[in-house]
Amino acid sequence: MSAAADAVVLTGGSAGIGQAIAARSRADGRRVINLSRRPCPVDGVENLAVDLGDAAAVADAVVRVRDLLGARARVHLVHNAAFPIADAVTEFDARACEQAMRINVVTPAELTAGLLPTMAPGSSVIFIGSTLSEKGVPGRLTYCASKHALVGLLRATVQDLFGAGIHAVCVCPGFVDTPLLDPLRARGPEVMRQVLGMISYGRLLTPEEVADIVAFCLERPSLNGAIIHANLGQRES
Ligand SMILES: NC(=O)c1ccc[n+]([C@@H]2O[C@H](COP(=O)([O-])OP(=O)(O)OC[C@H]3O[C@@H](n4cnc5c(N)ncnc54)[C@H](OP(=O)(O)O)[C@@H]3O)[C@@H](O)[C@H]2O)c1
Repeated sequence: MSAAADAVVLTGGSAGIGQAIAARSRADGRRVINLSRRPCPVDGVENLAVDLGDAAAVADAVVRVRDLLGARARVHLVHNAAFPIADAVTEFDARACEQAMRINVVTPAELTAGLLPTMAPGSSVIFIGSTLSEKGVPGRLTYCASKHALVGLLRATVQDLFGAGIHAVCVCPGFVDTPLLDPLRARGPEVMRQVLGMISYGRLLTPEEVADIVAFCLERPSLNGAIIHANLGQRES
């Protein structure tokens, strides 16, 4: 199967892991359509400026992506963008929770539903989860709930698409060297030393390492329903 015939529709390609997925997908010969507020700087990427927390903008983006794709084709939908909200059950703001849930959970479901008619057999849906898709830590209540919810979306999507020839995978990165970790870095070198001390290899993942796993998953229907943790091995106690 030639990658040249495939399109990747990606959220959050303007930075970090998403930018690396866009670069890898272009290098593999795939068309890339990116949805984020800022453009993806990778050459050849088609950018649609959209705030994924705005329901009307997401509905409009579905129509625009379907227009861009035209005929039904192999489409790899990569749900990567997320709002890294840091809240706790002891300091809870329902509106902030709702907004984060919209970006992290509702929008991925809506994009999948809206783009399904364009997705031919051989397509895939990739959810970018987190270590926190299957683990809890303090101070990350809504983020953790939203990343667990992606596993629910994965499992239910696999059931809903039974027999459709479209596979779905949830890739769960550990700590990745992207702007998302800036608040952690801002807390000083001791905090980063503690983080690195939790990782078997004593380093952060690169965004390219995650993009490599995603590129593998796009072409592997055998992984339908899989939750893949890519975290270099983390201390569990
Ligand atoms: N970095 C890590 O250590 C780590 C670990 C585990 C999981 N993850 C997951 O990996 C994914 C990518 O994270 P990252 O580290 O690459 O983050 P990042 O560098 O902060 O990039 C986040 C991306 O999401 C987009 N985005 C956020 N809110 C958006 C909105 N309202 N509308 C449109 N786009 C929005 C941003 O685009 P604009 O700002 O241009 O809109 C940006 O492209 C996320 O799902 C994150 O939860 C990351």
